[in-house]
Amino acid sequence: SNFFALIPAAGSGSRMNSEVPKQYLALNNKPMIYHSINMLYHNQLIKSIFIVLASDDCDWIKYDWSEFSSKLIVLTCGGATRADSVLNGLTTAKLKGLIDTSDWILVHDAARPCLTSTLLEKLINELTQDEVGGLLAVPVSDTLKRSNLKSRVMQTESRENIWQAQTPQMFRYELLTKALQNAEKLHITDDASAIEALGFFPKLILSDTYNFKVTYPKDLALAELIIQQRIN
Ligand code: CTP
Ligand code: MG
Repeated sequence: SNFFALIPAAGSGSRMNSEVPKQYLALNNKPMIYHSINMLYHNQLIKSIFIVLASDDCDWIKYDWSEFSSKLIVLTCGGATRADSVLNGLTTAKLKGLIDTSDWILVHDAARPCLTSTLLEKLINELTQDEVGGLLAVPVSDTLKRSNLKSRVMQTESRENIWQAQTPQMFRYELLTKALQNAEKLHITDDASAIEALGFFPKLILSDTYNFKVTYPKDLALAELIIQQRIN
């Protein structure tokens, strides 16, 4: 079986409050999504990278992607939610005969530009022989409070065995597609939750907090700093 990457990039970035969707905001003189593509492109095991855009995307074509053309496949079939975008991308790629049911799919957020080759290789190495698949994640470090609606602490939760999910999340086409179809009425925000809903146990691969998701405006400066510090 082969390895493919799929980048859902059909979100509008509502929490970012910017004119253009956040995946196109400049980070180190490149659109944010460039950094995810660049990292996946340079991994020798990854055969192609599917980019799932919104059907009304008008930013993608403003950039020159020719340096990645040997691996890039652009699909304009984004859906209403991240899960819809991933499922539409998988279905379209399969219909085009580009992937096989047993292939591994690495789903990676366009909004996670600080992924490193080390983490990517670690994920692949630790999961290739796995029955289910899994994801990069980090154990939470802060103390956890459960509140009522008035922001009063009701309880302090144990942080033992609590992780923050990141991407890439790596599952085989067949299981992931089945899981996302089954999860269509659930409110999931990552791929692993769909797999869990089928009764499987995705493996957590220890990652780094640097691989965070750019969500709010203040996250941009931090992401830029992390990327710059690697180059210099
Ligand atoms: N995404 C997608 N299709 C959607 C929603 C999200 O492909 N309908 C993608 C985003 O483009 C992003 C990733 O899923 O790369 C993670 O989603 P998130 O960080 O929530 O991005 P947005 O949905 O764009 O942001 P927000 O939730 O603030 O609107
Ligand atoms: Mg969102």
